[in-house]
Amino acid sequence: MKIITRPAAMFKAVMAVKAKGKSVGFVPTMGALHEGHLSLIRRARKDNDIVVVSIFVNPAQFAPGEDLKKYPRPVSQDIALCRKAGVDFIFSPSPKDIYPEGFKTYVSVDGLDRVLCGKSRPGHFRGVATVVAKLLNIVWPDVIYLGQKDAQQAVIIKRMVEDLNFPASIRIMPTVREKSGLALSSRNVYLNIKEKEDALVLSKSLNLASLLIKGGLRDAGRLTKRIRELISKKKSAKVDYIAIVNADDLEPLNKIKGSCLIALAVRIGKTRLIDNVLVKI
Ligand code: PAJ
Repeated sequence: MKIITRPAAMFKAVMAVKAKGKSVGFVPTMGALHEGHLSLIRRARKDNDIVVVSIFVNPAQFAPGEDLKKYPRPVSQDIALCRKAGVDFIFSPSPKDIYPEGFKTYVSVDGLDRVLCGKSRPGHFRGVATVVAKLLNIVWPDVIYLGQKDAQQAVIIKRMVEDLNFPASIRIMPTVREKSGLALSSRNVYLNIKEKEDALVLSKSLNLASLLIKGGLRDAGRLTKRIRELISKKKSAKVDYIAIVNADDLEPLNKIKGSCLIALAVRIGKTRLIDNVLVKI
């Protein structure tokens, strides 16, 4: 396994591999790797000749006052996990390599970046789209592996890849959870024991939503109300949003139908957590 920090060196390494006709699978991450990330890496390992994992805590997707500085960076642990998973290249640039002085070009995926998480995190998805576009121009993967955990991010990256003609396909992998139901997230380390227990209310409310839909409930307003009632039972929980939308374009749904995404963001104490479930009718 090679660890590369310079974009030009990464590009050169990938071009050499591609010249031999080898396929490249790419897993973009911000590090603090857990089983969720590893599920993407394992899939990439299965599908491709070469696997590239990027580890870059992207300043452009953090707003002032968010957790950029305290975001976990367990570098040697991440390297060991990648090595064990059979990764060929870790690309781990410095912020200056990605955003050199004078940087001015950003990618916005109009509209999709202003709903759900975009409402309370303005600029976040512009930062995500920009860094992913840059990474794609450096790594030129055949397949990009993303997690359903960040459903809106996946929709936005899919749109961008299509709109900007990146020659890559996208594979979205299911959310990996703890036995308790809690979706794995690098941010779970911020939770104390009590908060971690309270955080189960996210997956529990999504399970309730799935059950109610199975039982025939189709009214999105009523479903949202039931989810909100359950979450509000936890004192430490503050709902940021509960959204019931079309899974492909994130348009709000009044009636549950087709491919429906139920997504939520909830603050548990100071930690903002997201989770979602996809329901197909
Ligand atoms: P990060 O939060 O590190 O996540 C990297 C990838 O892992 C994303 O595609 C995310 O959806 C996936 N992932 C995270 N938790 C998961 C889980 N529990 N189950 C399955 N997949 C999971 O998302 C980012 O980084 C950044 O925004 C990035 C795309 C790298 C751009 O900076």
